[in-house]
Amino acid sequence: MEIVIVPDAAAGGELIATAIAELLTGKPDALVGVATGSTPLPIYQALAAKVRAGALDVSRARICQLDEYVGLPKGHPESYRSVVLREVLEPLGISESAFLGPDGSASDIAAAATAYDHSLAEAGGVDLQLLGIGTDGHIGFNEPCSSLASRTRIKTLTEQTRVDNARFFDSLDEVPHHVITQGIGTILEARHLVLLATGEAKAEAVAQAVEGPLSAFVPASALQLHPHATVVVDEAAATRL
Ligand code: GLP
Repeated sequence: MEIVIVPDAAAGGELIATAIAELLTGKPDALVGVATGSTPLPIYQALAAKVRAGALDVSRARICQLDEYVGLPKGHPESYRSVVLREVLEPLGISESAFLGPDGSASDIAAAATAYDHSLAEAGGVDLQLLGIGTDGHIGFNEPCSSLASRTRIKTLTEQTRVDNARFFDSLDEVPHHVITQGIGTILEARHLVLLATGEAKAEAVAQAVEGPLSAFVPASALQLHPHATVVVDEAAATRL
């Protein structure tokens, strides 16, 4: 595992956007897995700046989603599909037809989860998967105690994660209780994992993930199993390392 400490979130975004640009230069139709939350926004902003400057061609790039709330209509502004369309596809000028995501509004969620895993495999697998980290060490929506071999499936959010994510909704009551998330086993199949963590609030989770034992209690520690994992942290998130 490679750990890169950068001065701030903007530097982390630039570093990772450059890595994605290099991937797309060598493989223009690479499948890039994106994460939601506040942390990866500097990555998407740096990518959009490269596209605007004519320094990056994303015309053949494909994008896939890490996780999704269950029960929000697809068009809900806080469904992760809507967030990825708004924060990634639209600024980069990538068509929705180049986007893969799980269907959190399906009537059969178990079937939708399995179908999503199949669609990733049929697409040739994920070339680079971006990850954030929850304050409890979760990746995607794999909460503590998720099986390290898990596949895409329905999960129940912890109260802590619902509280953490309530800022995107009008009230805590509106935050869904259930989600579909790529499993930890699914995430580990991506050819390159890149986790970005910024801010003091993530310092303990980062230390546990990177320097603690491999444990289902800290889902992000599964990155220790991956042959090509990069963890980018700003100085605040690195304070417990
Ligand atoms: C959600 C997402 C995760 C993300 C996490 C942290 O739980 N499912 O993929 O890593 O939030 O979000 P933030 O970056 O806003 O702290």
